[in-house]
Amino acid sequence: MNLKEMVGVEAARYVEDGMVVGLGTGTTAYYMIKEIGRRVKEEKLRILGVPTSFASKKQAESLGIPVKTIDQVKKVDLTIDGADEISADFQGIKGGGAALLFEKIVATYSDQVIWIVDGSKMVQKLGAFPLPVEVIPYGQQQIFQQFEKKGYHPVFRMISDTNKTVTDCGHSIIDLHLDVIEDPFALSDVLDHTVGVVEHGLFLNTVNTVIVGRETGVETISNIR
Ligand code: 5RP
Repeated sequence: MNLKEMVGVEAARYVEDGMVVGLGTGTTAYYMIKEIGRRVKEEKLRILGVPTSFASKKQAESLGIPVKTIDQVKKVDLTIDGADEISADFQGIKGGGAALLFEKIVATYSDQVIWIVDGSKMVQKLGAFPLPVEVIPYGQQQIFQQFEKKGYHPVFRMISDTNKTVTDCGHSIIDLHLDVIEDPFALSDVLDHTVGVVEHGLFLNTVNTVIVGRETGVETISNIR
């Protein structure tokens, strides 16, 4: 088992019969969904999945996991998702897989959030991983120029040399190359108040439990908040 699979399988153990479960996105979340699918099939686990992307929806459905959208459930009991960076005080950057908008919405309406990562994602301060910012197409060059002026070193995420990445909602992603984010809350506030920004990848005071995969085994950090 690789580290991503180890934490994916471990996190799936937290899922209980009858739960509404937010299904994250990415190469680590893939293993969690796969294991939940196995439990649905072999253990007759009865859950409802709320996928955070079209890719996760497709995977869940292919495994026989019943799915609903966030608007078709009252709330989510538990969301399990990957992360790109987690700081020493358990703030996070997400959106490396361009699914940050749905991921943040689903996390917001979840009672509990678990992040599953390999040890390389645990950092002292956030920012070495480029911070994804999701923007609507109209006015995005203006936002880009503003970010340049602020010294955020923005780069449009591209799917090819000439085509920008398009999110599940038809938006673009501007990655900010910041190196170190000294005050994630202040930056979050700036981005939250930038017209045309739909969402950004700073997930602050979000996670309750982090499951970290290391060569030495799985470490679970609980009761974070
Ligand atoms: C997608 C995400 C992912 O959870 C994050 O990028 C981690 O992905 P991976 O497990 O593939 O490293 O936020 O938008």
